[in-house]
Amino acid sequence: MEVGVLGAGTMGSGIVQVAAQNGHNVVLVDLNEHILNKSKEQLKSILARLVAKERITREESEATISRVTYSQDIHDFRNCGIVIEAIIEDLEIKSHVFKQVEQIVPKGCILASNTSSLSIASIAATTENPTLVLGIHFFNPAPLMPLVEIIPAVQTSQETLKTARDLIDGWKKVTVLCKDTPGFIVNRVARPFYGEALRIYEEGIADFATIDWAMTELGGFRMGPFTLMDYIGNDVNYTVTETVFKAFYFDPRYKPSFTQKRHSEAGYLGRKSGRGYYDYSEDAEKDQPNTDKVLGEQILNRILVMLMNEAIDAVFLNIGSKEDIDLAMTKGVNYPKGLLKWADEIGLKTVLESLEVLFHEYGEDRYRPSPLLRRMVRNNERFFE
Ligand code: NAI
Repeated sequence: MEVGVLGAGTMGSGIVQVAAQNGHNVVLVDLNEHILNKSKEQLKSILARLVAKERITREESEATISRVTYSQDIHDFRNCGIVIEAIIEDLEIKSHVFKQVEQIVPKGCILASNTSSLSIASIAATTENPTLVLGIHFFNPAPLMPLVEIIPAVQTSQETLKTARDLIDGWKKVTVLCKDTPGFIVNRVARPFYGEALRIYEEGIADFATIDWAMTELGGFRMGPFTLMDYIGNDVNYTVTETVFKAFYFDPRYKPSFTQKRHSEAGYLGRKSGRGYYDYSEDAEKDQPNTDKVLGEQILNRILVMLMNEAIDAVFLNIGSKEDIDLAMTKGVNYPKGLLKWADEIGLKTVLESLEVLFHEYGEDRYRPSPLLRRMVRNNERFFE
C-alpha cells in the first residue's frame, strides 16, 4: 500500500521513516520546499548512522531512501491507500486540507490525523466520507517511541479502524485504542505529572530540583517534571494543558498553572531558549535538590496518586481498556510501571486514603477520587491478578 504523509516537520518526517523502513512507498508532501529538503537530508543522515551502528545494512538504507518521494503537490497522493496528516495543529487548516486530499486520493483511501488535541469527529465531519477518517497519534520521536494511539471518531467505520490498526501493528508499533476525547490516553493521564508538580512548587513545599529528584530517584521516572517541561518547551506544554482544560469544560483537575504561564511569557521556554525552570547556559551552576527522604516520599506519593486517579478515571470513563492505559504510559512516555498495576501494588485502599487526605485538606474538586476507585476499594478488587 502506498502511504501519503502530509507535513514534513518533526512528526511527519518520523512517520515517513517508519513507513519506508517497513517497505512502503511513501509520498511526503509539504508546502515548504526548504522543510522538504531538510527532511530528506535528515532521513539520509539518520539511516547512515544506523548503518554505521550496524543496525541496518547499506542496502536496506538505500532501499528505504528510494521508497520516499518528496513533493509540494498534494495531487501526488493520487495512488495512496492511506494518508497521514501531520501539519500545524489548527482545526480550520486541517479541515480544509482533509477536504482537498479527499478529492485527490483513490476511493476507499483512509485519511488519518496525527493531531494531539483536536477532535477527530470534527476533522471527519468536514469530509464527504467521514467513515474513512480516524486519528493515528504517534509519539515523538516516531521511529523510537513504540506507542501509537488509534482513535476512531464516532463516524469511523469498523473496517477503517481494523485496516488502520493492522497496518500500524505491522510496523511493529504498540497500538492502543482510545476514545475520541481531549488528550486521548497519554496526554490526559499524564496531566498531573506536570500540574501537581507545579502546584507543589507553588505551595512552597519544594523547589524544582527537589521535586525532580523525588520523581527520578525515588519514583524511577526517567525525567523529573520540570526537566521534562523544559525539554518539551514551556510554551508547548502550557498550550496543551490549556487546550485540555478548555476541552474538558474547565474541569479544575486540569487547571493550568500561573508559574508555567509566567515562565512561558518571560521567554523561559526551556532548553530551546537556554533557560526554563533551570538555567542551561554553560557556566550555570546546577541547582541542588534537598534530598530529605521523607519530603521526597511525600512529593512522589502526591504526584503518583494523582496520576493513578487520572488513570483509574480513564478506565471508569472507558477512554481505553485497563491493559491499554497501562501500555500507553509505559510505551508512550516511558513511565517505569503501568499506573494501574502500580496502584494495585501500593494497594487501592492506600491510594484512596491519600487522595481523601488531599481532598479534605483542600476541599478542591481537583482531588476528588474517581468513583471507580471507591467502588473497587469497597469491593476489595484490584485491576490485575
Ligand atoms: P511541525 O511544525 O514540525 O511541522 C508541521 C509541518 O506542516 C511544517 O513543515 C509545515 O510546513 C507543514 N504544513 C503546514 N501547513 C501545511 C499545509 N497546508 N500543507 C502541507 N504542509 C503544511 O509540527 P509537528 O511537531 O511535526 O506536529 C505536526 C502534528 O503532529 C500536529 O498536529 C501536532 O499536534 C502533532 N503531534 C506533535 C507531536 C510533537 O511532539 N511535536 C507529538 C504528536 C503529535
